[in-house]
Order: sequence, then C-alpha cells, then structure tokens
Amino acid sequence: MRLPVLNADEIVKMRASCRLAARVLEFIGPHVVPGVTTDELDRLCHDFIVGHGAYPSPLNYKGFPRSICTSVNEVVCHGIPGSLRLKEGDIINIDVTVHLDGFHGDTSEMFLVGRVRPEARKLVDITRHSLRLGIEQVRPGGHIGDIGAAIEAYAGRRHGYGIVTQFCGHGIGRQFHMPPQVSHSARAGTGPVMRPGNAFTIEPMINQGTSQCEILRDGWTAVTSDRKLSAQAEHTVLVTSDGVEILTRRPTGRTSDKTR
Ligand code: MF3
Ligand code: CO
Ligand code: CO
Repeated sequence: MRLPVLNADEIVKMRASCRLAARVLEFIGPHVVPGVTTDELDRLCHDFIVGHGAYPSPLNYKGFPRSICTSVNEVVCHGIPGSLRLKEGDIINIDVTVHLDGFHGDTSEMFLVGRVRPEARKLVDITRHSLRLGIEQVRPGGHIGDIGAAIEAYAGRRHGYGIVTQFCGHGIGRQFHMPPQVSHSARAGTGPVMRPGNAFTIEPMINQGTSQCEILRDGWTAVTSDRKLSAQAEHTVLVTSDGVEILTRRPTGRTSDKTR
C-alpha cells in the first residue's frame, strides 16, 4: 500500500492545525487539579479551540458527545467528559484533536493529579518514553511496523506492561482517521513503507496489567479488563526527507506535570 503524501501547501496547514492542538494541551495543564470535573476541562478546551477559529474534531464524530477525550486511571482511551471529579493521585490522559483550515491535528498527554503513587508515575514515564522510541523509528524507507516493534521491545518485553492492540495510531490529514493503521505492537520490516510527506499519529496505550480492554455500556469508554491502570501519549508526525517532524510538539515541553 502507498500512503497518502501531503504537498507543500498541505504541510503548512497541517503544521498550523497540529500547533494549535499542542497549544490546547499547554493551555489545559494548569486546570488539571483535584476537584475539577472532566466536563469543566472539556468546556475550557472547547472554548479555546473555537476561540482560535478551529473545530474540536471529536464533537459529534460518530456520535461522540464531547470535544475532547478524558481517560482517567483504568480508562484506556475515549473516556467521555462528564461529572467525574478528579482527585489527588489520579492519572488522566487528555486527547485533543482540532480541525483547522481543512486539516486535523491530534495529540494527547498524561497529567498527574497532585501526588500520585510511584507505580502510576512509572507507567506514565514509560508510556511517554515508548512514544519517543516509536517516533525515533520514523524515517523515509522505514516500515510502519518498525514503530510497534520498538514499543513492544521496550514497554512489553523489557518492562512487562500490556500493550493495547485493539486501538492503533492512524494516518491523518483532511480526514481524522485514514490509512495506515499504526500498531503499537508489530514486527520490524512489516507494513507500508514511510515516504516524505506521510502524516500519521503514534499513540501507544500501555497497561500495568493485561493488554485486554472492554468497552463500557456508553459505547465509547475503553477500560482495562483487569481494571489496572492504563496510560497513553500521542503525537502527529510527518515523515521528512531525512527523518521526522513532530507536528504536535509543544515548544515549551510544558504541561501541568512539573516533573517533565
Ligand atoms: N483522538 C482520538 C485518537 O487519537 C480519537 C477520538 S475519537 C472520539 O484517534 F470520537 F472518541 F473522540
Ligand atoms: Co487522539
Ligand atoms: Co489519534
């Protein structure tokens, strides 16, 4: 399969969309504190996105009822913002996708609510590092499977965590989700070849225990089958002539988690 290639104009627009998504994560960080509800976080992000001339891609996407995904503790992904109040010790993934000038930018990060247990912090650190190792595999001539192979070797074999395979990274651009599927557990040298101009996400979901997930009755919320913790981090990346550009990189590298 040949992956879609963005032209120079499209790349300029992808950069803008992805930069805005990254700015939403920077903006929301200071609001992720004990006592805030996930609905309040959703409202703040919604208003920030709309205020910058963009649309929150999840809103009404296949019926999703909110503007961001908020996935707390055992929630793997696609948590729906609601009346849940964050408490000290929680870990939460906030997943932001914006649609600006015809292009989607998709990124997520973990936030630690107050002081969290060491094992939760370790899961978050290893998940962030898994994303970095996946990104390091992105280069022209490489295979999409190289990404999942690197993540599997590190988070799975070295650290014994469960790597979710029910959800994948994805091509992105004029569509929110398009080919290729970017598995976070794969074999090196398999899958489509990466070429300059390909844009896709890498978004490993790493579980403390089993890799198995279940979907709750709301039809969206994915939780770990053993209800142990799950963490996720996501960037949208572009294959360049000599490597990779992290389109959703946060210039300050800053979130509410002051230890980063
Ligand atoms: N942003 C998610 C991803 O990384 C998708 C969310 S779809 C939604 O692909 F409908 F749940 F918002
Ligand atoms: Co996302
Ligand atoms: Co995504």
